[in-house]
Amino acid sequence: MSHPSPEQLQIFLDVATEAVLAAGVILQDYWGHLEGIEEKGRPGDLVTKADKAAEAAILQVLRRHVPDHPILAEESGQLDNTASEYLWAIDPLDGTTNYAHQYPVAAVSVGLLIEGVPQVGAIFDPFRQELFRAATGLGATRDRRPIQVSKTAELSKSLLVSGFAYDRRETSDNNYAEFCHLTHLTQGVRRSGSAALDLAYVACGRFDGYWERGLSPWDMAAGIVLVREAGGQVTAYDQSPVVIPSGRILATNQQIHSALSNELLQVSAASAARSDNNVLSQDASHPS
Ligand code: IPD
Ligand code: CA
Ligand code: CA
Repeated sequence: MSHPSPEQLQIFLDVATEAVLAAGVILQDYWGHLEGIEEKGRPGDLVTKADKAAEAAILQVLRRHVPDHPILAEESGQLDNTASEYLWAIDPLDGTTNYAHQYPVAAVSVGLLIEGVPQVGAIFDPFRQELFRAATGLGATRDRRPIQVSKTAELSKSLLVSGFAYDRRETSDNNYAEFCHLTHLTQGVRRSGSAALDLAYVACGRFDGYWERGLSPWDMAAGIVLVREAGGQVTAYDQSPVVIPSGRILATNQQIHSALSNELLQVSAASAARSDNNVLSQDASHPS
């Protein structure tokens, strides 16, 4: 495992910061007069001119500073397949649906994975002008001031956030049961529409925990670094190490991690038992 020096990580963090700020200017420019909103494939999965222009601005910054590093960009896909320990995962506009509807909750997210582990991340919210940054060992900041996760220790006192992937109409593993279950057990579960901001908000203590399935590496790479560096915990639902791109993530203030993991696993087990029963009853009504 490669261990870049703190100085090297700081340089990468500054590159990520320059990239998110450049994209942020473009998102502000397009705001309110957006034309040409397209669906990418699945219903509801939108892409706009702003996504594309913001991504181009990020690519320009990365090409200038780290020309040899491969990039995984949401709108352009994997660029440069050369073998490398580095991979930049970029989401030029996380929260496209919100943005397209002029609901001002969205962010730019740029993360750097080193040997598959997220180590550098910058997230910029162009509406609140908030800049979240973190790198392994260097801590996490909001607007250059250190941030920490919340201290909430009980699920019943927590405020959580989650989301629903674009394949939600095609699978029963759509997070609806988990969302309802946890809405009953907590002070509330929000659905912001921006995974990057959800993770940044766990990092700065606005949310106590976050879970979601169906995420892509660009949705979570930067946010994972933020939560870890702010003192939080990030794993898969069952507390095993999070696998990118498994798309299933549980990120909390650490205090409620086990409790939230247990609840998610209980709901999954109950849903699996229900779908087994459905298959059995369908078999019984259609004897072969
Ligand atoms: C989406 C947002 C949303 C999450 C979806 C993501 P996009 O990203 O992060 O919160 O629920 O799963 O795909 O499409 O707005 O970049
Ligand atoms: Ca996204
Ligand atoms: Ca996006």
